[in-house]
Order: sequence, then C-alpha cells, then structure tokens
Amino acid sequence: MSPVAKDGESNSKGGGERSKGMGTTLVTTKVDNGRPISKPITTPIYHTSTYLVESCESALDQSLNGYLYGRLGAPNAEEVETTMAAVEQGAGAVMFSSGMAAISNTLLCFLQPGDHMVVASSLYSGTQTFITHYLTKFGVDVTFLDAVDDGIDAYARATKENTKMYYGETISNPMMKLLDLQEFGKLGGEKGIMTVVDSTFSTPINQVHVSLISKS
Ligand SMILES: Cc1ncc(COP(=O)(O)O)c(C=O)c1O
Repeated sequence: MSPVAKDGESNSKGGGERSKGMGTTLVTTKVDNGRPISKPITTPIYHTSTYLVESCESALDQSLNGYLYGRLGAPNAEEVETTMAAVEQGAGAVMFSSGMAAISNTLLCFLQPGDHMVVASSLYSGTQTFITHYLTKFGVDVTFLDAVDDGIDAYARATKENTKMYYGETISNPMMKLLDLQEFGKLGGEKGIMTVVDSTFSTPINQVHVSLISKS
C-alpha cells in the first residue's frame, strides 16, 4: 500500500484542525513513497483536461510553452502528431478526433469566400455532403470533376483564376480510384495551388503521402 503524502491528510486553518471533505480528499491526495520516478518507456496516458500552472502570469506567458488545457495541446496528442509527421516525412501534423473534423477544419481554415476548389468526383459521402451543403454556404465555389474524366489533367482544365485548392482521396471511398500523388503535387506546385488529400485507406506504411506530394 502506498503512503499518503502529508498534504492530503488534513487542512489546518486558524488555530484548529479541520478535516477535509471527501471530495477534497479524493482530488488532492497524492502518493509520496519516496521512490524516484524513472522515465517510462512509453508515454503515460494523461487523464487530465487541465494542467497546474504556477501563476496566472506563467499561464499566459506563451514563451513558457507549457500545457494549460487539453484542447489547446496535450502530451499524448502531441506524441501522435510528432510520430505521424515523422513517418509522413512532413513538417508537422495536427490530430483531430475524427476524419470529418480534420476535413471540415482543413477546408474552413484554408478557403475564403470567393475562393474556388477542384474536387475529385469519387469522394467519401460525408465529405461530399460537407462541401455541397455547408462549404458552399460560405461562398466557396466548387467544381466536382466528371467521374469518367478525373485524372490530373482534369484538375488542370478545371483550374480558374481564383482556384485555391485541389482536393482528392489517395484511394477513394467507395470507388477505390487511385490518385497519382506525384503528378497531383507537381500540378499544385506549378500552379501555386494547395493540394489536399484524404488518406484514410492508405496509411504511410504503404504510401508516404506528404513526401510523395511535396517532392514531386
Ligand atoms: C475516405 C474517408 N474519409 C473520411 C471519413 C470520415 O471519417 P470519420 O468517420 O472518422 O469522421 C471516412 C469514414 O469512413 C472515409 O472513409
């Protein structure tokens, strides 16, 4: 059994001892058995949404780069992001809790009203719905390529003055169409247009998407 640290036992206020309530004891009791904690081989799972800060000033001091609140950054999420960036040979990664969260955030972050995007015909239904019913509400102009002709040349032909993004799925769902990533990246590079791919079906073990697109 682990001994309980002194600061979890009781709380003295004024002259007399005052017992902590059950709730306070449950959230403040810490183990202190004097054993040093060595570095664990795998990152422990942090079951916390909020992190202790030394002061309000230190919480607001961005240069300290500490953790504050889970949605703003958390060690386990950062480990996944760092690992994904390493295996994809990319500059960085951002983790989301679902595919549609990643896709909708990417489109809403990088596209403005008045921008145009070119999208492959064969597309996951959730993405199709988001683009058709929601993205267009924000004034984004969309060209869906024709199913019989959605090769890289079709992206080039559909490009307009205001085209800001080419979008496709590396292996499309459900039609299993393949996108030539090198040619896709090359076209985006030549035209100065952002290329975005959904790689749900092909993990970096089979296809290193970011490096294929960016090195073409
Ligand atoms: C190709 C593709 N993109 C995106 C999604 C959406 O992922 P999620 O269900 O995690 O939002 C799916 C889900 O099946 C998918 O197949």
